[in-house]
Amino acid sequence: MPEIPRGNRPLSPHIQIYRPQWTSVTSILTRITGNALIVTTVLIVWWLVGAATGPEAFAWPDAILRSWFGDLVLLASVWALWYHTLAGIRHLVWSTGRFLEIHRAETFGKIIVAGSFVLTLLTAIVFIFV
Ligand code: HEM
Repeated sequence: MPEIPRGNRPLSPHIQIYRPQWTSVTSILTRITGNALIVTTVLIVWWLVGAATGPEAFAWPDAILRSWFGDLVLLASVWALWYHTLAGIRHLVWSTGRFLEIHRAETFGKIIVAGSFVLTLLTAIVFIFV
């Protein structure tokens, strides 16, 4: 096969040498949390439909959601909802043309990650103690 002259062109980033950035990782997380929230929504709708149908239909979803595993899923969902909401607000801010410079976008990413954990903690405190 003839050698193709490739010159000194940059290679596209390969997954093994790709350095994750706050901008790309927070963007990927927005998609993951958005899709995970669909699963949470289905679980909660299953629980509500069960409650409206009768004791037998309610027993299963209620047992799952009120188990330790259900607590874990709901806590993760609270974080996902806060994270996804803050990321959505970030999109609104970006739509106004602000915070688009790379260093500002990176700082914004750190703010939404930190904010999502703080808000999750506050939500857990409110639900457990209030
Ligand atoms: C339970 C509530 C929510 C669910 C189930 C949900 C679900 C989703 C899904 C499935 C996606 C697309 C992900 C993909 O492309 O793979 C998405 C994207 C998005 N959501 Fe949500 N979402 C919810 C709440 C919100 C809220 C409250 C906001 C705004 C404050 C928001 C703003 C956005 C934005 C801006 C995108 C596009 C992100 C991008 O293009 O990178 N979402 N959401």
